[in-house]
Amino acid sequence: MKYIAPSILSSDLSNIHDQIKEIEKTGCKYLHIDVMDGHFVPNITFGPPYIKSLRKQTDMIFDVHLMIENPEKYIDEFSKAGADIITVHQEASPHLHRLIQQIKDNNKLAGISLNPATPVSSIENIIEDLDLILIMTVNPGFGGQKYIENMNKKIEETAKLIDKSSKNILLEIDGGINKKNIDKLKKYNIDIYVSGSAVFKNGIIKDNYKKLMESVNG
Ligand code: DX5
Ligand code: ZN
Repeated sequence: MKYIAPSILSSDLSNIHDQIKEIEKTGCKYLHIDVMDGHFVPNITFGPPYIKSLRKQTDMIFDVHLMIENPEKYIDEFSKAGADIITVHQEASPHLHRLIQQIKDNNKLAGISLNPATPVSSIENIIEDLDLILIMTVNPGFGGQKYIENMNKKIEETAKLIDKSSKNILLEIDGGINKKNIDKLKKYNIDIYVSGSAVFKNGIIKDNYKKLMESVNG
């Protein structure tokens, strides 16, 4: 089974409780939460208190994507707040191995995300320590951007690397995903497709979500 992980960045945040309930009713497994600090990326979003309040509303798996500088300072807080998967950026730390161990010490699944310009080879030597690899298919910071076509090759390369490893590592992609490009991407064996605007557009969340789920599993 392949999954769509709705990114709440594109939701109606003033109405988040109802939107989460609507997503939950579809049987959705992962909820993608974009954390931005205004330094690593030019946008500011949610901190641990917000995630803690969402945690009370649903049992969906919280896929927390940290687009922040100095992530080591905040891993424990985000763990306590209720994250299930914590993904940090390769570009945000010179000590990725230590960071991954910190996430695991908190009993969370550990992911690394790569910006469009960052090669997959940069994490080759620690791949066996990872639970998830997140390939950015837009420049991080905002929802509603256009998918960068040149990322197809990188996704393919990552899928091959995962295949060669002895571990069950989830492959996730994030940014500009819609029904059209899902059809072209399916061949790469992607486990989780993050989708913000395509899920929340026109306020018909359930319909959008179901159609996207059919595309990734069809
Ligand atoms: C971008 C975020 C994405 C974003 C996806 O920095 O990491 O998760 O919310 O939104 P869409 O699907 O609209 O590109
Ligand atoms: Zn994201």
